[in-house]
Amino acid sequence: MPPDEFPPPDARRTPDATLLWGLRSPCAFTCPHCYFGTIEEHKQQGLPTEAGVLSHLSRTDLPPQVLKAFARTLAGSPVGRVVIAGGEPLDWLPTLDVIDLIKQAGCQVVIATNGIPLTRPPVVQRLVDLGVDGVSVSLDSADAAVNDRLRPSRSGRFGYHDVVAGIGALLQARGDRHVPRVGIYTVVMRERSQEITDMAELAGQLGVDYYVPQPISLAPDHQLFSVLTHRPDDVPAVAGQLSRLYDESQGLALPDPSYVRRFIDAISTQDSGHVPDCFGGARLFFIQPDGSVWDCPSDRRIAATPAARRRTIAGADARLLFADRPACTNCTLFSRDCVNMWPLVLDMPRLLNTRAVR
Ligand SMILES: C[S@@+](CC[C@H](N)C(=O)[O-])C[C@H]1O[C@@H](n2cnc3c(N)ncnc32)[C@H](O)[C@@H]1O
Repeated sequence: MPPDEFPPPDARRTPDATLLWGLRSPCAFTCPHCYFGTIEEHKQQGLPTEAGVLSHLSRTDLPPQVLKAFARTLAGSPVGRVVIAGGEPLDWLPTLDVIDLIKQAGCQVVIATNGIPLTRPPVVQRLVDLGVDGVSVSLDSADAAVNDRLRPSRSGRFGYHDVVAGIGALLQARGDRHVPRVGIYTVVMRERSQEITDMAELAGQLGVDYYVPQPISLAPDHQLFSVLTHRPDDVPAVAGQLSRLYDESQGLALPDPSYVRRFIDAISTQDSGHVPDCFGGARLFFIQPDGSVWDCPSDRRIAATPAARRRTIAGADARLLFADRPACTNCTLFSRDCVNMWPLVLDMPRLLNTRAVR
């Protein structure tokens, strides 16, 4: 299709859409709480067949040429930021070529990684050379043994110390350019609310730029739901920790202070209710490794998507795919995962631009 058949960019609206792009399914870690489930359970019980279900087994991941063709269409589209996740995006070399194309299209790129690939010097150098804007590294406990229990690697060979080494390697490789910004993401589980401030202290010591503690989000039928998910009686401990975090921020950029209220609301209530000014399907879209495009990664929202709204990036053009979007959507499917979307969309400028003061 010739370029003049695409909708002209709307001069009143800058490219303000964020794509959370789960690029590849495999991961060297086997975190029992992961959104992707575990390979072991999917081998034993078979792959779930519901729409939107993720699996590290990666049987339907799109090939590189399809991903690259889509990335080439981002220029001139409403997409201004791409957060690349998975699975583990940096264990697969074509990811770096996809990032190159996204950057050439003028989009901001943030990568969510388990941190192990950052121990490989060529990967780190390429991230710096490509001008990647942010690298969010996952670490769930400031205590090495606890982290490696919560986030076990499949081989048992990698863990906390490699992640910390990877963060150090990236900080060193970027030198005084201060780009990519480097952050730590921590999944906060019930009975481990102390991680909120313990991890901030570690992040400050490591010299990272931003930090996002996020509440665990599990479906009520998940086998670990009752063990790991917060209950209303956990609220005082979490609220105390969050309050201390914002009082003693260790020079780290944090989500906007309104995040505290959203975090507390999310763990105080059951999953239901209206989401005011929801940006899912307006400024946020989720792409699965098989190319499916959803308005939001929430399993509740995916399950409620009408068949006519099911879309794919395979063979699609971002200028058309995201052209028709409202200013916000009317969502009544609140879940704990909602709170985790703010740092990706509205808080990201704050996380990436605030220079850490030390
Ligand atoms: C699925 S991982 C993919 C990217 C990369 N492999 C990593 O480890 O960061 C993206 C983020 O989601 C978090 N996460 C996974 N399962 C979660 C859950 N059930 N609730 C909240 N966060 C979760 C991970 O800890 C990580 O920070």
